[in-house]
Amino acid sequence: MDDHAETEELNEEIQETFIVHNRTYQRYSINNNTYFVPVDEDETIRLRIQHEVLSMTFDRRLIFPPISSLRRILDCGFGTGSWAFQVAWDNPRCEVRGIDISPHHHNPNESVENLYLDVDDLNMPFQFRSNHFDLINSRLVAGGINSSRWPGYLRDIFRCLRGGGWCQMVEIDFNAQSDNGTITDGSALRQWSQTYLHAMEQCKNPRAPRRLGGWLRDAGFTDVDERMIPLPMCGWSDNQREFDIGSANQENVRLLLSSLALYPFTHYLG
Ligand SMILES: C[S@@+](CC[C@H](N)C(=O)[O-])C[C@H]1O[C@@H](n2cnc3c(N)ncnc32)[C@H](O)[C@@H]1O
Repeated sequence: MDDHAETEELNEEIQETFIVHNRTYQRYSINNNTYFVPVDEDETIRLRIQHEVLSMTFDRRLIFPPISSLRRILDCGFGTGSWAFQVAWDNPRCEVRGIDISPHHHNPNESVENLYLDVDDLNMPFQFRSNHFDLINSRLVAGGINSSRWPGYLRDIFRCLRGGGWCQMVEIDFNAQSDNGTITDGSALRQWSQTYLHAMEQCKNPRAPRRLGGWLRDAGFTDVDERMIPLPMCGWSDNQREFDIGSANQENVRLLLSSLALYPFTHYLG
């Protein structure tokens, strides 16, 4: 936002927090049904662990599309800013912008000259210029995108990319499964995911991860490549790589179960 007065007003509301069941939430997000996950230090720690789990899963690769020259990148829902910071650090001549509804998880010490992080709501039409970015990254924001917003969100991303630009998206399909069949419908993890999907479907689309490809094509994207990657939830595997990822993810999963579900379970499902 260019208007200084408006920016200050929004910032005040954005900074305001309150406590529910011992967790700290952003008042703006809860009041507007935007995002129901705490903004406290526990969640910052979880996001950092999750970033490490994804970094291991993607073999430390941050950017997937074959882009030869990177000049402008947008990160939607930057969280701790770890992804945007690393990309800005690795590409000092590229301008990296990030937007997030919550500035609470970002450590201001993790900053570089070519990184610009702002507060904004992805559910609102983008204010960025058309035909502007080489790459737009959107990772794990499905919990905060309103059901009806998805087609418009993808159209905004398409509009703000330059011709030949790329969008990369990562979302988690919360469906706990086991290779040996020990996670059955009665298991606590399966019950958690069913209940979570039920609680969220009142205003978000928990099936979004499986629909991204179709929405991208509808928005005008071509060369859409979709992959479903199983994410080990603990160190069960004999395979060293899966063991390492699962072991790292175990703590993320433990923290995630309450982080994501506490507010929707109590508020929507009583
Ligand atoms: C699970 S975190 C993921 C952070 C980061 N993208 C990553 O992969 O590490 C989701 C982030 O999206 C932000 N978010 C959720 N809904 C949003 C919205 N409607 N507008 C802007 N940011 C949103 C949250 O504040 C949070 O920082």
